[in-house]
Amino acid sequence: MPEMTESIEIVRDPVSSPNGNGDKRSHILLIDDEAAIRDSIDTLLTLEGFSVTLAPEGTTGLDLLARNEYDLLLLDLSLPGESGIDLLPRITELQPRLPIIMITAFGTVGNIVDAIRAGAENFIQKPWDNEKLLADIRGAIARHRAEDEVIQLKRALKQRYSFENIVGKSDPMLRLFDTVAQVAPSRSTVLLQGESGTGKELIAKAIHANSPRRDRPFVPVNTGAVPSELLESTLFGHVRGAFTSAVNSKKGLFEVAHGGTLFLDEIGTMGMDMQAKILRVLQDRRFMQLGGTQEIQVDVRIIAATNVNLQNAVREGRFREDLFYRLNVISLELPPLRSRKQDIPLLAAHFLKFYSEENGVSERVLAPEALRIMMDYEWPGNVRELENCIERGVVLSTARVIPPELLPQQVTGSTYSASILEHRPDTSLFDLMEEIERRIIADRLERCHWNQTEAAEYFKIPLSTLNQKIKRLSVEVRKRSRD
Ligand SMILES: Nc1ncnc2c1ncn2[C@@H]1O[C@H](COP(=O)(O)OP(=O)(O)OP(=O)(O)O)[C@@H](O)[C@H]1O
Ligand SMILES: [Mg+2]
Repeated sequence: MPEMTESIEIVRDPVSSPNGNGDKRSHILLIDDEAAIRDSIDTLLTLEGFSVTLAPEGTTGLDLLARNEYDLLLLDLSLPGESGIDLLPRITELQPRLPIIMITAFGTVGNIVDAIRAGAENFIQKPWDNEKLLADIRGAIARHRAEDEVIQLKRALKQRYSFENIVGKSDPMLRLFDTVAQVAPSRSTVLLQGESGTGKELIAKAIHANSPRRDRPFVPVNTGAVPSELLESTLFGHVRGAFTSAVNSKKGLFEVAHGGTLFLDEIGTMGMDMQAKILRVLQDRRFMQLGGTQEIQVDVRIIAATNVNLQNAVREGRFREDLFYRLNVISLELPPLRSRKQDIPLLAAHFLKFYSEENGVSERVLAPEALRIMMDYEWPGNVRELENCIERGVVLSTARVIPPELLPQQVTGSTYSASILEHRPDTSLFDLMEEIERRIIADRLERCHWNQTEAAEYFKIPLSTLNQKIKRLSVEVRKRSRD
């Protein structure tokens, strides 16, 4: 290999610049009293493209923080005089959103807990591993920037469309926002299609809120869950005596939604007889109450949603073709979360803020590893599943940073191998492979409710082989809870 000459100029690509900050250099403040530590961190970070400011003690540091903005603070825990922990309240007062990583000596676990309670995000122990320090710094800065982006994006979306609670910056979501803004003012029927948990109801509400009907009711009705007879009276209302239990007359939801929007949810599983009735109302916006003799005319905008593919349902004879075309005037497709992973950090930051406030705790953040695991996961339950995952993390975490262990098992399950490798760099390959195998088997057994035959079929191995592996790897086996 030819030797590198000193004259080689290293040109950094601004987009992939190693400080992970695009074309703007991240600015880091380091407060540490030991000159040797200041020097080595300064050298490391400068070489990696960061801009570094050094402070030898707390007062200088506070002074700098009062006058400049930084992207991250590295703070020594054991400064002479006032310790790093003593300084934390004043630092967070000066720059409440500044990510802080504490530098600690070996064996100061108690203090670390205090520091994290007082607002530090993470800690690194002396002697540190350069790669880990850099990864932690980049992770904290990236997360902080995602949070900022959520705040800015919300402001922008609010100004533009008043989409207050909808988060997304991926191309398909931005296109969707534009279409929503375009179709909202009209009275056209909208069909929302997308997997469960992708945000169909949220978008339906946004369409209503951005329409001239916003001050009139938005009326959701789950057309898939209600039995046909009940659905008919729910939607059209009934007169007194229309059926045995109809002791009073009652307005239907079409009437309640007059002037506003009726949201027909889960339309794909609605019965055939109801489909015929709905079709008639959609054609002329007129209907009769059950047992009634007079036609009622309403001005209602219809938004329908489904998580089953309506075209397939039409092809299979489960959904009327004429109704499909009536509903499919403007069709919006909500993309699954796995196809727009760049929205994950943004959604996570949005829900972290929301659930921290709701639970009255200081704003929680995700550990870098937890976010990485979430980026790798496929999210079959889409945004709803992600929201539940964050809510759970916020409720269960006792410190500011939510560790990967607090993610649900189905989320961490798919990334066993990667996280094991990162956590245990000193383990032999053989032990790692065994550990991975052990966890995969334990995970599958739990999913199969400890039905070993089912698990063996899943792995495409004989039951006897699975049994041997369970014994050899000491996989915990519980009693079968289901046959
Ligand atoms: N882009 C988004 N930004 C913020 N929150 C979102 C977004 N998309 C979905 N959510 C949230 O996720 C949850 C599920 O969304 P919603 O109920 O609208 O989904 P859905 O498509 O109607 O699901 P289903 O088909 O299961 O009824 C809600 O709490 C909603 O607020
Ligand atoms: Mg829904």
